[in-house]
Amino acid sequence: MMKQNILNQLKTTWAGNTCLCFDILDSTQEFAKTLAMKEPVHGTLIVADTQSAGKGRRGRVWQSPKGTTVAMSLCLEPKLQIEHAAGLTLVMALAVSEGILELTGAETQIKWPNDLVLNGRKISGILTELILKEGGYAVIIGIGINVTTEQFPEEIKDIASSIKLETNKEISREALVAAILKHFEIYYETYTQTEDFSALKELYEQRLVNKERDVQVLDPKEPYVGVAKGINEKGNLVVECSDGTEKCVDSGEVSVRGLYGYV
Ligand code: BTN
Repeated sequence: MMKQNILNQLKTTWAGNTCLCFDILDSTQEFAKTLAMKEPVHGTLIVADTQSAGKGRRGRVWQSPKGTTVAMSLCLEPKLQIEHAAGLTLVMALAVSEGILELTGAETQIKWPNDLVLNGRKISGILTELILKEGGYAVIIGIGINVTTEQFPEEIKDIASSIKLETNKEISREALVAAILKHFEIYYETYTQTEDFSALKELYEQRLVNKERDVQVLDPKEPYVGVAKGINEKGNLVVECSDGTEKCVDSGEVSVRGLYGYV
């Protein structure tokens, strides 16, 4: 991916203020974390054309075949109370969804907390990690998007797809990066004003693929099923159990699946 093409299209005030682009990295996320330990990084963006050891959530591998995906990590040093930082992963999901809408007209859905779904298939994943620094903390949000990818490994081929496969549109990866950062800045500002989802909840729930669907909550203590109703102000998924009680699911702790498949 061409750094100059990203910079030429960037319409942000701080997101991407420093942009480091690589042909190949083991993982933009690992690079970003190491950098964040050493220096101030608020707004720094790390982008790679391909990754040799891309990481997904829950220790999974994330594939970034050369030239077909966006693999990037955005570094933040928010002024938020640390317990409100996890919500930024949902904020980024909104920004990715909006960026894809802007460039393709396609309405992606969000599988809580932060997978982007088109026609029931996953086209993007987000991995958010927090590191403690002297005097504060940094949040590294890693975003992987399948833009023109056409082939997927056997074990994910039923759930994974790309923007091109689902929309027939071949968009510029650089333009997508710029559009996502632009929307992220706006949603970030909204989120940080109140440190909750009071202003973003409605938009998030419009995109929420799980809404009113049966979900399985893979709570390590005791898995349960219920109907996803939406999110609360903390960004937790609200699940109504069959006895009528409501449970709030925290994204850091448990994962949620559709009762009949991926969504
Ligand atoms: C998931 O859905 O499991 C999250 C996938 C996150 C992948 C991105 S690609 C850029 C950044 N670098 C990584 O190693 N992982 C994230």
